[in-house]
Amino acid sequence: MSNTTSFKRLTLEDLPVMMAIEREAFTMAWSSSVMRDSLMAAHCRAWGLYAQNRLVGFGILSLVLDEAEILSMSIEPIYHRRGYGEALLQFLISQALKGKADAMHLEVQHTNLAALNLYHKNGFKPVGTRKAYYPTPNPSVREDAILLSLSLSAQASKNIKKTSETGRSLKPTLTYSETRA
Ligand SMILES: CC(C)(COP(=O)(O)OP(=O)(O)OC[C@H]1O[C@@H](n2cnc3c(N)ncnc32)[C@H](O)[C@@H]1OP(=O)(O)O)[C@@H](O)C(=O)NCCC(=O)NCCS
Repeated sequence: MSNTTSFKRLTLEDLPVMMAIEREAFTMAWSSSVMRDSLMAAHCRAWGLYAQNRLVGFGILSLVLDEAEILSMSIEPIYHRRGYGEALLQFLISQALKGKADAMHLEVQHTNLAALNLYHKNGFKPVGTRKAYYPTPNPSVREDAILLSLSLSAQASKNIKKTSETGRSLKPTLTYSETRA
């Protein structure tokens, strides 16, 4: 990962470049209007990850009372496997901790092994599934969503602090298994 990495709050001005990344990263991308709504919602914050002043990825965090949720997160494909996704995730976790959230949740396609590995590596645990939740390009096929949660305990807080000092997660990689809660 580049040493000149930074995070910045994104606004409606960033919508076009966010949509370009979104469409490259996801087969079934959010529409521009859904992205716009998330940028305007009072309980949401969109954060961009910049490398050498270029937006290479973003995450959208919802914070309601003591519950945080990652609504979307993606890194432009040409920047994959360089540590940016993990840096972004850890930044979002640090924002949830700052917002005094007790837990962080998200849902992910059960076939998305890159994301599942990333989340498991960073302490998220499967807590349930939503059957046939995601549409696919084939209208007769829908994919299950796996619900993942991270308890933002003192241990998580300690790990984030260590991570921000080293720039990488200190937790071991966990192999993902098709757990169904
Ligand atoms: C998921 C995603 C954000 C990962 O970003 P990334 O920058 O490539 O990830 P990193 O380089 O930081 O990798 C961190 C960890 O994620 C896991 N991982 C990332 N890509 C992986 C892949 N292709 N296969 C298996 N594991 C992978 C690994 O555990 C990796 O740790 P390691 O490097 O120690 O093996 C990226 O693949 C992406 O944007 N995908 C499309 C959008 C998406 O699926 N978003 C998440 C669902 S909301």
